[in-house]
Formats: sequence, C-alpha cells, structure tokens
Amino acid sequence: MFFIEKEIQMAAYLFASILFILSLGGLSSQESAKRGVLFGIVGMIVAIIATVLGEGVSGQVYIIIAIAIASVIGLMLARKVEMTAMPQLVAILHSFVGLAAVLVGFGSYLDPHAHTLTGAAHTIHLVEVFVGIFIGAITFTGSIIAWGKLDGKVPSKPWSFKGLQTMNLVLLIVCTILGVLYCKADGTSGMLYLGIMTAIASFIGVVLVMAIGGGDMPVVVSMLNSYSGWAAAAAGFMLGNDLLIVTGALVGSSGAILSMHMCHAMNRSFFSVIFASGAGNGSGGEKKAIEGEVTSLNHEEVATLLKEAKSVVIVPGYGMAVAKAQYPIFDMVQTLRKAGKNVRFAIHPVAGRLPGHMNVLLAEANVPYDIVLEMDEINDDMPNTDVVMVIGANDVVNPSAQDDPASSIYGMPVIEAWKAEKVIIMKRSMSAGYSGEDNPLFYKPNSEMLYGDAKDSVEKIMGFLKA
Ligand code: TAP
Repeated sequence: MFFIEKEIQMAAYLFASILFILSLGGLSSQESAKRGVLFGIVGMIVAIIATVLGEGVSGQVYIIIAIAIASVIGLMLARKVEMTAMPQLVAILHSFVGLAAVLVGFGSYLDPHAHTLTGAAHTIHLVEVFVGIFIGAITFTGSIIAWGKLDGKVPSKPWSFKGLQTMNLVLLIVCTILGVLYCKADGTSGMLYLGIMTAIASFIGVVLVMAIGGGDMPVVVSMLNSYSGWAAAAAGFMLGNDLLIVTGALVGSSGAILSMHMCHAMNRSFFSVIFASGAGNGSGGEKKAIEGEVTSLNHEEVATLLKEAKSVVIVPGYGMAVAKAQYPIFDMVQTLRKAGKNVRFAIHPVAGRLPGHMNVLLAEANVPYDIVLEMDEINDDMPNTDVVMVIGANDVVNPSAQDDPASSIYGMPVIEAWKAEKVIIMKRSMSAGYSGEDNPLFYKPNSEMLYGDAKDSVEKIMGFLKA
C-alpha cells in the first residue's frame, strides 16, 4: 500500500486545521455559511486521506471499505432527514463521537505498546485514557437521552430529585478515587477500575440530561456538542494524532462558547446547567392560575385585521418548521409590504429546535435579512405594533417566563407579543410548547387563536388578502 511521509502528513494536517478554522469562521454568519461548510468538507477529506495514508497505518483496505460504507449511510441519512428532525440527528451523531472516545480509550489501554512507556509518559498516557473514557461515556449516554428528548421518546419535562447535585458530586469523587487506583495498577489490571468508572460516567450522562427541562434543551445540545469535541480531543491525545487534538479542541471550545451564548439568551447560569443543579430557574412551587377566556377567529377575520394594520410582527416558532410554512409566509409578507405595511419578523434565540433554526428557514424562503430582527431589537417596538402573528411558536412568547416564578421557563427572556394591540396565535390546538408549560398568552383579552396547520392557515389568509 502507498504511504506518505510524516512531513507531508504534517503539512496536510496544518492545511486541514486552517480549513477547519475558516469553516468555523464562515459558519458565524448566514451569508458565509455555505462557504464555511465547503471549507469543512474539503478539510475533512484532506484530513482523512492524510491519516489513512500515514506511515504505520495497517489494514488500509479495511479502513477504506469502512469509510465507504459509513459515507453511504451518512449520505442516505442526510438526504432522508426532515429539517425538523435535524436536532435529533445532531444529538445522535454526538453520541457516536462519545462512543468512539470510549472505544479508543479501551483500545489504547489494552494496546501492548502503550505499556512499554515508563515514568511520566506512562502516567500521562493513563490519565489521557481515563479522562477520554470519562468524557466519552458522559457524552455517549447524555446524547442518547438528548436524542430521546428531542425525538419525543423521552419526556421533555425535567426529571430530578432532591440531592441530585450531591449525588453527582459523590460520583465525581468516586471516579477520582478510581482514577488514582487505576493509575497505580500494574499492566492491564486497572481494567476493573476503568470499567466501573465507565459505568458511573454513563450513569452521570443520563441523569445530567434527564434533569434538564425542555426549555433548557438548547443549552444541553450545544453543551453536548462541546463535550463531543473534548472527547475527540482526548481520543487525539490517546492516538497521538495532532489533527484530532486540534479539531476536537476547535469543536469543544466553539461548543462551549455557543453554550455560553445560549445561557445568556435564556438567562441561565452556565454552571447550573452543566452541573444539572435543577431545571431552569423555576422554584417548583404552585403555578399561577391562568385567568381569562380563550377566543378564536377565522381566516377572513385575520385577513381583515391585517388589511387594517400599519405594522405587523411575525413571531415564528417550531410549528413553522413542522408545517414548512416559511414559503407562504414570505408570499404573505410581500403582499402586505406591497400594500405599504411595515412587516418584520421577531426571532427568539431558541425558537425551533436548533440554534438559528428560524433564520435558516427564513433564509431558505429568501426573506431579506433586514426585516428579520432579533428579540432584543424588536421587544421595545411591541407596544407600537398593531398585529403580532405568532406562527407555530409557544414557549418563546410565554409570559410565565416573566411573571410565574414556579414555571420551569421562569427567567428566560421572551418576545413580549402581548404588548401589541392584537395578537393572533396560529397553531393546531391549545397544547403546551416544548417545555410542557401552559401559555397564559392564549387567554389574554387582546389574543385570538387561529386553529389549524400554519401553512394551510397562511394560504387561506392569502386567499382573503388577494380577494
Ligand atoms: P414550542 O414551544 O415547541 O411550540 C411550538 C408550537 O408549534 C407547539 O405548541 C405546536 O402547537 C405548534 N405546532 C406544531 N406543529 C404545527 C403546525 N403544523 N402548524 C401550526 N402549529 C404547529 O416552540 P418555540 O416557541 O419555537 O420554542 C422552542 C422551544 O424548544 C423552547 O422551549 C426551546 O427552549 C426548546 N428548544 C430549542 C432548541 C433550540 S437550540 N432552538 C433546542 C431544543 C429545545 P400545536 O400542537 O397546538 O399545533
């Protein structure tokens, strides 16, 4: 088989690292995101070729066959997956990275060559293996629970109990003690300690994510993204692969930065989320009784309200993604703008199920960026808005986040739709949002429900607008 020299491999790794950095830079804005993805793809191809052809790599044919099979599976999954199921796919892919780190860890520990190391080098190798497996196991099980929560297979409501934090702390101390015993063990006799630690870390991953409420899932998704990066970096140390260390560190640190942004957007403390100190800010006491009556209107009445309005704000949410309503919504926006109305979108940072979910969908429908405003940019304008159309959104416009300390989303900044003259809520039923919290907005005197699938409703409204 053909091998490349070490120097060429290093040069290729450096080139791939630069491409990965450019890729992350590109992903920071919608305009450059496609370019960013392209840099990432090219970087990964260079990285894989340089690794597989590296000196001393055996079984290249098997590796190439495995890569080919995995690529076909990946391609099929990516083609098949609905945009609404993307978060679940991302979560399950994170779990693969965690599992890979665990397997690499055990493989490295059992590798007879590693035990020829002596002194500090040996201890460092043992610690790399231990930490890599620990992070990998947490990422693996935590991501599986996150996948279950996002896919509706595990309840999105927080599952927690008194003493959870203390238990996590005790388990962490036990793992540290196991780590010391394992480092002192001879040959591969530390396997037992490693096995017990893996079981404990897997358990921590489960309880850590189970304790997070639906409303706080964005932080968990980005946090697991970060963990998967650190797990990959740890695998890079174990395998002595510099590029894997760099790539893992890039994913780990960018995921950590994203988690912090998410925490800021949700008014959550980073540490309370990563140590699962309870779900969100809710006190867990008795919830405020919801007062008022729910009233509804029909499509023609909505069209009349829109014709009379001067300023309209559209708040899209996860339901817009489910209904794929972004295209008819943009048609409606163009019609209203042609009629001289000021129409804007208000985007909550965690609307949907992925960071930037709404922005991606609106960009897909060619909505101009200048009418797409962030929550902070538009909230002050709500009292001067004639009509707010809440399309498939729920938690992101829930006033309980501001006035019910017992709510699990209490403290999360929300779009203050209720301050507008009129609020039209377009969804199929009175059901709760992802957090499982009821929404008092539906009962406000200036709110009206328009029941039905968002796409269908918008198309019907368009019919009356054009009439
Ligand atoms: P949600 O609170 O989940 O509400 C979406 C609403 O859309 C539902 O109440 C549902 O009501 C409605 N809906 C579903 N299908 C529809 C359809 N075909 N037509 C019309 N309406 C439809 O969404 P949100 O307001 O966007 O808030 C996002 C939530 O997800 C937050 O709690 C957030 O923390 C969490 N989360 C976000 C992320 C990220 S990173 N964005 C990740 C994980 C979790 P009906 O069933 O009555 O129609």
